[in-house]
Amino acid sequence: MSERKGTFLTPGVEEGPPINTVRAAAEDRRAAAAPAAGEDRRAAAAAAAGVAPAARVALVGANGHGRWHRRVIGALHDAGRVRLVALVDTRPPEEEPTAPVPADTRLFTDHRAMLAEVTPDVVVICTPPHTHLPIARDAATAGADLLLEKPPVLSSGEHEELAGALATTGRVAQVGFQALGSAALTALTEAVAAGRLGTVTGIATVAAWQRPDAYYARVPWAGRRFLDGRPVLDGALANPLAHAVMQCLAVAEAVGGGPVEPAGIEVERYRVRPIEVDDTTVLRVRPRHGPPIVAAVTLAGEDFVAGEVIVTGSAGRAVLEYPTDRLLLPGDDAPREVPGRRGLLENLLAHRADPRVPLIAPLARTAPFTAVLTALRAAPEPTLLGDGLVDAVGEGPQRVLRIRGVNEVLRRAAERGALPSESGVGWAVPPWRTAAAAPTHPWRVDSARAE
Ligand SMILES: NC(=O)c1ccc[n+]([C@@H]2O[C@H](COP(=O)([O-])OP(=O)(O)OC[C@H]3O[C@@H](n4cnc5c(N)ncnc54)[C@H](O)[C@@H]3O)[C@@H](O)[C@H]2O)c1
Repeated sequence: MSERKGTFLTPGVEEGPPINTVRAAAEDRRAAAAPAAGEDRRAAAAAAAGVAPAARVALVGANGHGRWHRRVIGALHDAGRVRLVALVDTRPPEEEPTAPVPADTRLFTDHRAMLAEVTPDVVVICTPPHTHLPIARDAATAGADLLLEKPPVLSSGEHEELAGALATTGRVAQVGFQALGSAALTALTEAVAAGRLGTVTGIATVAAWQRPDAYYARVPWAGRRFLDGRPVLDGALANPLAHAVMQCLAVAEAVGGGPVEPAGIEVERYRVRPIEVDDTTVLRVRPRHGPPIVAAVTLAGEDFVAGEVIVTGSAGRAVLEYPTDRLLLPGDDAPREVPGRRGLLENLLAHRADPRVPLIAPLARTAPFTAVLTALRAAPEPTLLGDGLVDAVGEGPQRVLRIRGVNEVLRRAAERGALPSESGVGWAVPPWRTAAAAPTHPWRVDSARAE
């Protein structure tokens, strides 16, 4: 990135333009209307070469996971594919040594001011989940396409509202479910479609992570169900393990030939800390068509399980470790890595250049995920697991809590499709069910065991 001026952000100089004065705002508007000389030259060179000019990208939410986006954008900026025209954050952007902020990138503390003055082509939104809808709506109205972090919104009502705003403005939203761009997932769904697993009888995911105390102390919305009167829903399924759920829904989409329509939901939710949401959850979704889906996940695991998607069929079983793209198909001796991930931002750029290129994670594809979140909003407070069941390991902010035996409980749930309360787990509580959810019988796993 030739025009980068280094990694150090100087408060008052790079923290944002003096957007509070009328004169400065007028100057900024003029500057935005007339592209910088370098930008002009690049656009002319691109036109001469017959390639689309670099898309003008703004990032809202520059810290936290936003730093990962800065690295992705930085590489595309260096390649001349995009120009990082603005960073927006209510806090000063932290240093990101591998993706220093380009010299002519504008810094703002308010996304509306940025939209008015910079008019980006693409806005990447990486702010806390409860802020997504208003920022996304404003960005689409300002004429930008979106890369919107997951969970895109927090209810089906919000989903409809955003879908409506996109339809009205003619803009598109790609949602930050990056694991959907994995070649390993495609290999799995192709195997399912080709009938290699026979009739699919169950789709499940199991993951066991650990989060230290510092994780819940890092931001005000961590572990909250509501903040400032707004739903936040920062539970294990909605946030850190959202990808596990979405991968299952993508497999179910391949099995059923279309988006999953959840007909009934059963869930057992637990927590090991005085948080408002679950850190340990077993969810079973019964779609209107197709096999049940079970997600058995924890942030209080004993042993680390990165995240497996287990597809059980009448003719065999497949396992995808979605964070590592390692895939085991029927007949394989061992899991093999299926390398290759299409980047969400690159895919969005390709779609903008040629709408025949489908988006990997368009908002519409995430509707079943949001439907699940919507149903879970009505679930009661998660059950607090007490001292006798939980071990503390480590000290200070890095202390983690682990539920004794939880890995085995979750593994069993994922393999058999049974909730902990159906498997005789001593600490399990009866599931909460949506009205439409009748108890679902665990799926048969005989053929899976024979693999
Ligand atoms: N795709 C993934 O794998 C992945 C991984 C981590 C987080 N996420 C998602 O990214 C989003 C952000 O998560 P995080 O953990 O980085 O959160 P965070 O709270 O650590 O960081 C969010 C940043 O946004 C800023 N911010 C908050 N409100 C703002 C506003 N109104 N305008 C501008 N800036 C604002 C904060 O100051 C902060 O710098 C969430 O939706 C989260 O679920 C996705």
